[in-house]
Amino acid sequence: MKVKYDFDQIIDRRNTNSVKIDALKEVFGADDLIPLWVADMEFLSPPEITDALKKRVEHGIFGYYTPDDAYFKSIINWLENRHSWTVDKQDVIFVPGVVKGFAFAIDAFTNVGDKIIIQPPVYPPFKTTSEGLNRKIVNNPLIYDNGQYSMDFDNLREVAKTGCKMLILCNPQNPSGRIWSKDELSELAEICFDNQILVVSDEIHSDLVLRGNEHIPFATVSNKAAQNNITLMAPSKTFNIAGIVSSFAVVENEEIRKKYFNYLNARQLGDGTIFGYIGAEYAYEYGEEWLNQALEYIQENIDFVDDYLQKNIPQIKAVKPDASFLIWLDCRALNLSQPELEKLFIKKAKLALNSGTMFGKEGKGFMRLNVGCPRITLEKALDNLKKAVVL
Ligand SMILES: Cc1ncc(COP(=O)(O)O)c(C=O)c1O
Repeated sequence: MKVKYDFDQIIDRRNTNSVKIDALKEVFGADDLIPLWVADMEFLSPPEITDALKKRVEHGIFGYYTPDDAYFKSIINWLENRHSWTVDKQDVIFVPGVVKGFAFAIDAFTNVGDKIIIQPPVYPPFKTTSEGLNRKIVNNPLIYDNGQYSMDFDNLREVAKTGCKMLILCNPQNPSGRIWSKDELSELAEICFDNQILVVSDEIHSDLVLRGNEHIPFATVSNKAAQNNITLMAPSKTFNIAGIVSSFAVVENEEIRKKYFNYLNARQLGDGTIFGYIGAEYAYEYGEEWLNQALEYIQENIDFVDDYLQKNIPQIKAVKPDASFLIWLDCRALNLSQPELEKLFIKKAKLALNSGTMFGKEGKGFMRLNVGCPRITLEKALDNLKKAVVL
């Protein structure tokens, strides 16, 4: 009989140094808010991972660790079975975080002052990391039409001619949860290849694909994609183990691989920790049933939010994600400035969400809601929001 995992359980994370809970006061100025911001989940990670880590802790010696074939096999099998992507062991390397993974790629493949394309609204470190490394951001904003985001290929074709060196792709997209189609990814691959723009594809949300959808790894869409790409992935969001640090990169092109892996290896950045390797291996090897059940629960949370908003707060619309436990809320019909919108959520509704403009000015009028939590938390949050908007 299958184990039934319990996602309704309320877990107290206070005083565990959790950013989402323990940094509320510092970031939002109050700690009595319902935390629905940072993208980790309020669910216990799969017990199969916890048990493996416990067993290793009980050994009591934590010396230098070398990953064996089982670690690489767990990744290779996962990519094959879950995403129909066949990769070789030699193409895979540990990276100490997806953001760090693209920061290293920026360092290794571009110079100070070089131009990097991003497509806002998008995960804030795409911009902050690039600018922090003194690169210039070139925006190719997504088009938002009828509740759906798409890429602006006409504009991309134009900016691609201006000497850009890299494009950082979010696939699936954060904050909208959009899964890009094969045609869209192929078109992007073609434009970037033809203009010698390296595509770094952040696929951290790829395993969080919701009912009826399918993630398409960028590298699989064409030869031009496979030969001009670094893909970054991780079990961190998927299995709620972000604090363990267990990401990896996949690079199929030999020249790019050599350059990137040399950059990492020369600095010993491709060496993970004991817990990172064990966490990833057990997640991919034994976590699939937990994930399938978690995704069903998340889908029901999304449906619940969508339904509640339509019935009770029609001024706020959910942009329903194809993947992830994040919902991009279109609050533009409230006709508030961004500071007023933030105030409504924080002061009146007592909710901590990510403000839309964190993702670029294109996020004005939006808020990002994390639904990776027990349904009862969402029920309370939405009741608070209803009172705040209606009263
Ligand atoms: C698109 C995207 N990339 C990267 C990250 C963070 O990855 P890491 O913690 O491995 O740096 C997040 C976290 O929210 C994300 O949404």
